[in-house]
Amino acid sequence: MVSRIIPVDPFDLTIFGGTGDLARRKILPGLYRRFWAEQMPEDARIIGAARSEMSRKDFQDMVREALLEFVAGAKRDTDRIEAFLDHIHYVAIDAKGEGGWPDLKAMQRDGVVRAFYFSVAPGLFGDLAERLHAHGITDDDSRIVVEKPFGRDLASARTLNATLAEHFDEHQIYRIDHYLGKETVQNLMAVRFGNILFEPLWNAQYVDHIQITVAETVGVGGRGQYYDKSGAMRDMIQNHLMQLLCLIAMEPPHQFDPDAVRDEKLKVIRALDPVDPSDIVRGQYGAAKGTKSYLEDVEDSGSATESFIAMKVHVSNWRWKGTPFYLRTGKRLRGRASEIAIIFKKTPHSIFGEQEEQRGNALVIRLQPNEGMNLRVTIKEPGPGGMRLVEVPLDMSFADALGPEAADIPDAYERLIMDVIRGNQTLFMRGDEVEAAWAWTDPIIDGWEARGDRPKTYEPGSSGPEESAMLLHREGRRWREIRE
Ligand code: BG6
Repeated sequence: MVSRIIPVDPFDLTIFGGTGDLARRKILPGLYRRFWAEQMPEDARIIGAARSEMSRKDFQDMVREALLEFVAGAKRDTDRIEAFLDHIHYVAIDAKGEGGWPDLKAMQRDGVVRAFYFSVAPGLFGDLAERLHAHGITDDDSRIVVEKPFGRDLASARTLNATLAEHFDEHQIYRIDHYLGKETVQNLMAVRFGNILFEPLWNAQYVDHIQITVAETVGVGGRGQYYDKSGAMRDMIQNHLMQLLCLIAMEPPHQFDPDAVRDEKLKVIRALDPVDPSDIVRGQYGAAKGTKSYLEDVEDSGSATESFIAMKVHVSNWRWKGTPFYLRTGKRLRGRASEIAIIFKKTPHSIFGEQEEQRGNALVIRLQPNEGMNLRVTIKEPGPGGMRLVEVPLDMSFADALGPEAADIPDAYERLIMDVIRGNQTLFMRGDEVEAAWAWTDPIIDGWEARGDRPKTYEPGSSGPEESAMLLHREGRRWREIRE
């Protein structure tokens, strides 16, 4: 495979929350990997901005430590890390006051892309936007990058959008959903729109149902406080699984262009039916040897927040009417496995007479780990004994098919940050898209809160509560096993 690194324009990227967890784990290592791949221009600068008073050298030391911790393999090269640190600068800033802003202003250069990453609590987005503007630090071409959670309901998302819109135009706002930066998620579009093979079958006439699973083995760990206020619905379904659903369900955009793609996704979200309470299963993991229960993790024995959710969703449009989308995500499950399975209908008639029950074709796109695709097809079992049919997988792992370079899949953040610098918003959520997603989510959450529903306890290391299996069983279907 030929690696094609397209250099980006010179830039200054200021990271508010530069000493925080996301910066240390994802943003800085992502930037370093792009530097390692020689995609970062010579004179690019990364400016950490945070409340702590520290020198440039202190911040460089912190960045070095983060890289040594979070960059693995051959890229963990001390010489290259030192060279990368030359690009690192620091400014102490008071997000809610005036301290540090003139210093940040003084650091600005003309003729480079100015990007500002808001890796801070959403409560500070307005303060940062306002001060960037008031101090004349941004211009019409500057970009801001905001992290999820983008609101916790429709009202708060609208407020956030309105606040940002006071100082920035929509084309300057990059709302991150890191799932869109995953190679395999982008590959969904390549598979759908780069092949003639699937598209004619990609509709309710030929697709029986679709399963989208994002399973994790980890619990909520140290994020209990945040997580308990969100739950799987707000933390995963409203954004990541919704995005996957959109890419699977949307109509072909006329070109791979930010608004063309986002217009089509928005139409899908708007076509989602309200979800019946009987089509939702929520769960909380119990305790196991050596691991705490969800309630212990969040230190609230009365919490009714879900760490697992499974639901049946309908997209009411011509293409999908009648084909259910089953979504499932949770923590402390049997494996870490994210995949999308398109389960096709069976042939209308078997010309081979009595046969063992065949399940029909299925296309499985494995998002992580072991990224790849698997197409289940029916063939003749070799040997004598008449026409006996058997199902076999046409299995392709991207690493096997494309060589070792493909196994080294870039982290979502690398791709997304470079897209910010390039000024390409295709893989970012537009304001109306986020609002539409909340408009669908709100009544579902309001419903279970009003009913006082409590999540079912499930065993850690399982596939979630039994009721989740029933959601499909009652319709003669079954979940694919969660397997790493
Ligand atoms: C985050 C959620 O957005 O995505 C986490 O807040 C979740 O709860 C994470 O663990 C999953 O991301 P990934 O890339 O590990 O699948």
